[in-house]
Amino acid sequence: MGIAIRHFDAVVVGAGGAGMRAALQLSEAGLKTAVLSKVFPTRSHTVAAQGGVSASLGNSEPDNWHWHMYDTVKGSDWLGDQDAIEFMCREAPKVVVELEHFGMPFDRNPDGTIYQRPFGGHMSEFGEGKPVRRACAAADRTGHAMLHALYQRNVRANTHFFVEWMALDLIRDAEGRVQGVVAMEMETSEIVVFQAKATLFATGGAGRIFASSTNAFINTGDGLGMAARAGIPLEDMEFWQFHPTGVAGAGVLITEGVRGEGGILRNSSGERFMERYAPNAKDLASRDVVSRAMVSEINEGRGCGPNKDHVLLDITHLDPEVIMSKLPGIREISIKFAGVDPIKAPIPVVPTCHYQMGGIPTNYHGEVVIQGRPVHGFYAAGEVACASVHGANRLGTNSLLDLLVFGKSSANSMIDFIKKQPEDLPELAMADVERSVARVARLDGQTNGVQVHEARAEMQRVMQAHCGVFRFKDMLAEGVDKILEVEKMVAKTEIGDKSKVFNTARIEALELENLIEVAKATMISANARTESRGAHVRDDAPDTPDTPNGRDDKNWLKHTLWFRDGNRLEYKPVNLQPLTVETIKLKARSY
Ligand code: FUM
Repeated sequence: MGIAIRHFDAVVVGAGGAGMRAALQLSEAGLKTAVLSKVFPTRSHTVAAQGGVSASLGNSEPDNWHWHMYDTVKGSDWLGDQDAIEFMCREAPKVVVELEHFGMPFDRNPDGTIYQRPFGGHMSEFGEGKPVRRACAAADRTGHAMLHALYQRNVRANTHFFVEWMALDLIRDAEGRVQGVVAMEMETSEIVVFQAKATLFATGGAGRIFASSTNAFINTGDGLGMAARAGIPLEDMEFWQFHPTGVAGAGVLITEGVRGEGGILRNSSGERFMERYAPNAKDLASRDVVSRAMVSEINEGRGCGPNKDHVLLDITHLDPEVIMSKLPGIREISIKFAGVDPIKAPIPVVPTCHYQMGGIPTNYHGEVVIQGRPVHGFYAAGEVACASVHGANRLGTNSLLDLLVFGKSSANSMIDFIKKQPEDLPELAMADVERSVARVARLDGQTNGVQVHEARAEMQRVMQAHCGVFRFKDMLAEGVDKILEVEKMVAKTEIGDKSKVFNTARIEALELENLIEVAKATMISANARTESRGAHVRDDAPDTPDTPNGRDDKNWLKHTLWFRDGNRLEYKPVNLQPLTVETIKLKARSY
């Protein structure tokens, strides 16, 4: 069919932290590695990560990976797999020091060690002690600094970057083996096949399924959509994190590091209300707990502003020098997006969609796994993947850590795998390529269709109203019907502009086809899970001694798997067995 085919040892889709950490490992191993990115690598969404990357370095006070592991399991509301969590927390100090040696400009303590600040849910003494300083930070621009360090190392390692290329579909042969991806060059709309021995998805999140999100416009769940269309299930998609502090009205992220530096949340009467909800950790309880407390304050009439629709994040008591040196970006964001200088006045904030805990099922080696078996040649890392280290709720700063640990481990698995493959690539299976080309052709040929922005707005409205911080039985059931209606709209989207050169309308339409897969997976999985756990809290889940806070371990201590084909759901057990230590036993979660 006249499509160019390019050949590589490894193809990495996505140039955020996970993609670039993986690519660096692959290129340094001498493998010919392609990285495809919709944007220039240093503009990937990792750039927006602010507060830090977690590692129990113990630079300011005692800490160790056992405490970190405990906090992560507890934060996950016991849905996280304990083998993967142990692996991540043990590796954390190593990958952070490695990054330091790559040239990452961390802030420093007076003794020259990496500066660390407290973050929500990171505690000492197996949750019994005080918040611990575990987030390694470069001011409030940690992701920015990380991405630049990784990009520069990749340039040195001769990674082949394909900038402003959008991957369209995964290619699997008749036996299900992954052969690479079909991709489109955004400058020309040319479709090209990237064939490789091993393929890694590191495409990030999909927060744009919601109307209010801290996520960049590029976070459209492309890896999730491609995987779902290729028959790969999506795991635990009901669990979405709402970050407590998005700027009210704008959604822009205000880092939890603000509370780590001493910021306090207040309601309309100036009360530090988190003392009532989390007496020990207070403002540094885990995110799901803080977000729900904020929404409860607003719903019960103690919100601030003329519409009583937000609460306030107060740092006016901090030394302005601390704000200028440790939170300069936050001050700038507050002035620009909220019109307040946080040195003088508190910042209006509301919970905003931030992160997906679920994703493509992998093990801690980064191999994509279905029914316990790795999919030949297919790997995933970072937010698109579900290892599952975050379970039902992620702790802040564990996401940058996830990128480093699993970017590296997936690349190591790929290196081992590639070494065992024959020198020559197998014959390319064309069926998926043809389906992908047909998808673009449908869009270009559609007449009397639906406008992309209308379908997208409807999807975001439905997700926000029916699947938010608090969830309601009837609203979820109705949400399923509504999102399936939106799916029909998406199947008929039409673009007015059919030109080939930098046609962003076509790109947005293709992105929407990925977003709708994520929205369906989310709504259908959430409707089915009739308990409350972590970020998924329902009105009909009873709080009893056997089901504390609505968590029903007897029936729901299991991972959801959503299959696109027939919107089928399956479940698989949570791995409660760590690698070398004892299981962290189930208990009711409080801060
Ligand atoms: O609040 C923040 O700086 C966000 C960090 C994270 O999501 O890990």
